[in-house]
Amino acid sequence: MPKMKKTPTKEKPKENKKTEPTKKTVSPINLLRGMRDILPVDQPVWDRIRDGARQLASSYGFERIDTPIMEETGLFIRGIGKQTDIVEKEMYSFETPGGEKVTLRPEGTASVMRAYIQHGMLNLPQPVKLWYLGPMFRHDRPQHGRYRQLHQFGCEILGDANPVADAQLVHLGYQQLKDLGIESTVQINSIGTPEARKNYRDALQAFFRSRRSKLSDEDKKRLQKNPLRILDSKDPVVVEMKAEAPQIIDWLDEESKAHFMKVLEMLDEMNVPYQLNPYLVRGLDYYTKTVWEYYANSADQDLAQSALGGGGRYDGLAELLGGRATPAVGLAMGMDRMANLLKEQGSGSATEAAEIFVAQLGDQGRKKALAIFEELRKAGIPAFEAFSKDSIKAQMEMANKKEVKFAIIIGQKEVLDGTAVIRDMESGTQEIVDALKIVQEIKKKLGRA
Ligand code: HAM
Repeated sequence: MPKMKKTPTKEKPKENKKTEPTKKTVSPINLLRGMRDILPVDQPVWDRIRDGARQLASSYGFERIDTPIMEETGLFIRGIGKQTDIVEKEMYSFETPGGEKVTLRPEGTASVMRAYIQHGMLNLPQPVKLWYLGPMFRHDRPQHGRYRQLHQFGCEILGDANPVADAQLVHLGYQQLKDLGIESTVQINSIGTPEARKNYRDALQAFFRSRRSKLSDEDKKRLQKNPLRILDSKDPVVVEMKAEAPQIIDWLDEESKAHFMKVLEMLDEMNVPYQLNPYLVRGLDYYTKTVWEYYANSADQDLAQSALGGGGRYDGLAELLGGRATPAVGLAMGMDRMANLLKEQGSGSATEAAEIFVAQLGDQGRKKALAIFEELRKAGIPAFEAFSKDSIKAQMEMANKKEVKFAIIIGQKEVLDGTAVIRDMESGTQEIVDALKIVQEIKKKLGRA
């Protein structure tokens, strides 16, 4: 056995401070700003969201796709648009040691379309319905509900021009929130074809130009580069001006208008509550025709003002990325915001606790307990344990804290007899059972036999 080092005995501190070695203090390393840990206590809420997303996507006939979190920077510049906030200010872009210009994905749609083109999915029966879930990165200004690593659940329908696809997706996001117990309203608009949008853009630019002096510096910049973004401005002066500004609906081409009407009719049919929002333009340039966002019906202004998800049609994206023209529509739900809301509502925060604790005494007991723990796990019965503890008292204290219903106790005697003790933690009664039948006995007690 290796010799143990003697614990150093405490020495009296010396009077002369100068001779004492200076203690080095190391500052702790914390999270990067805008990033966060999803701690075990929050995982049950996240699991509800993830599991719900999985089930919903497959029940609507979507197939899972995973794309890398890092892509060529050009994909997002071309896809999302050079003059969007995301591309201008929010991308984590850098050069790899090999000299490639890469970006941590700020969203999933451009990547999914890249994959669709690259893997020839155009040759599959259309539409191709894909879903994904994972982290995205935006160097956004951190605040409540806004993170620099955010998580999205997204669904994309590629190769379908029919308004029914838009309506189905609007419904899917609404349903996801509803399943989670979140009542929401959909805000919806149509931004038409790129040509209609260009004409509208010119009209909007002319309108705000004549009121330029009242705009903030930020909005003046937007006026020059991307006047549609002024509609997103929270500046009270602009909010007031907007009421008189031209509305996109009056600039829509006939086809976009007819498409939009059909989407709305189908939403009526499916009882999805929506509000027409003529100022909703969304922050990504690839959109055409229908765009929408979800907002919680909450009295809390913070919550009611940040979108829980959003989506839209993007019929021009495939060509922008070098593919054949492919009509497509999709949505992405913000998982962080859904999780925050569920936590604030106090729903789903309880850890799904195991109902069993496996306790042991002595080396033989520990070995046997390990085997029993494994048997339980294989039978789908989660259990707590504290195998590194020797004292049965400490283990029982832990079992109490975990609020389990039963503890299985294996000591030296039980190993020799081939038995196990099952202790009812509430009543304190104990029962000796055949160790070979432990899983059966536990199942019976939990009412799962
Ligand atoms: P998006 O509106 O940029 O759309 O993002 C979708 C959702 O992600 C937002 O509604 C919000 O809930 C969440 N989200 C965005 N940024 C943050 C952030 N910094 N922190 C926390 N949550 C955030 C898209 O990304 C499009 N790709 C959606 C889409 C799919 N359109 C067509 N297909």
